[in-house]
Amino acid sequence: MVRHYLSELDLTAQEFKNLLARAAELKKQQLAGQLFQPLKGKVLGMIFEKSSTRTRVSFEAGMVQLGGSAIFLSPSDTQLGRGEPIEDTARVLSQMVDAIMIRTYNHKTVERFAEYASIPVINGLTDLLHPCQLLADMQTWFEHRGDIKGKRVVWVGDGNNMCNSYINTARLLEFELIVSCPADYEPDPKIVASGGDYVTLEPNPSVACLGADIITTDVWASMGQEDEMAERRKAFANYQVTPELMKLANPGALFLHCLPAHRGEEVSASVLDDPKSVVWDQAGNRLHAQKALLEMLIQTR
Ligand code: CP
Ligand code: NVA
Repeated sequence: MVRHYLSELDLTAQEFKNLLARAAELKKQQLAGQLFQPLKGKVLGMIFEKSSTRTRVSFEAGMVQLGGSAIFLSPSDTQLGRGEPIEDTARVLSQMVDAIMIRTYNHKTVERFAEYASIPVINGLTDLLHPCQLLADMQTWFEHRGDIKGKRVVWVGDGNNMCNSYINTARLLEFELIVSCPADYEPDPKIVASGGDYVTLEPNPSVACLGADIITTDVWASMGQEDEMAERRKAFANYQVTPELMKLANPGALFLHCLPAHRGEEVSASVLDDPKSVVWDQAGNRLHAQKALLEMLIQTR
């Protein structure tokens, strides 16, 4: 059966944890210089309708390390940009490659692609979710601190795709998520409600961060919202993760950020470079977590 990874909730809690454990093993092997090439001859197609550094490089390097290869496809030089329907593209690419990763705007686009594809489809970020990032974020917490069940995770800033993905993951891995957003920038109430008792809104970041185990944030204007930057700068002025906010957290707390970061906006430069910040490990874990994902999706086809 073809499996897709469009949302964290496409995996069971056990599958999610198994992937984290597998990612840790693959990381060890890679760092020890051991070759492991179960995907020899396999090809990943990567459609990017938005920019990327980490997602593109981690998927491409990951496929090569697993013995396969990846093809970068942008709308500007494929027929997608000239209006070929996503449904047709899905059926055509299914004849040629072994899996597809898509980064796009509307989440429905990846859902439609998956409906028409006969190969695994991976969500490389939509306006709704960023599920590959959550695999890496959780791998990073597990490798530094162990299980996350019952821990207090604080989201500071915009109720965006990353925030929604944290809500899904709180449910799966049973951690407490405090979402601290300015008025009018909270996540969709339906998504908040789907998090049940695991998710609470607390608009005051100083209250939210008290006793936190993780403080995490993201840019104030996501890709596609560049025009709103001036008004967002005003709305989010009190939502910067500063050393003062970090001091309210538990002694072993970590700072996470999916990157790219805007120093002096959602995070102060000193927090990003503090020893509590594990953002470089987090970025590196995109590679290992997605290798575990590719191994699972492509091999179990
Ligand atoms: N965090 C993340 O997805 O980074 P890119 O936009 O560089 O892929
Ligand atoms: N929320 C950000 C995440 C970037 C990785 C965006 O969608 O642009």
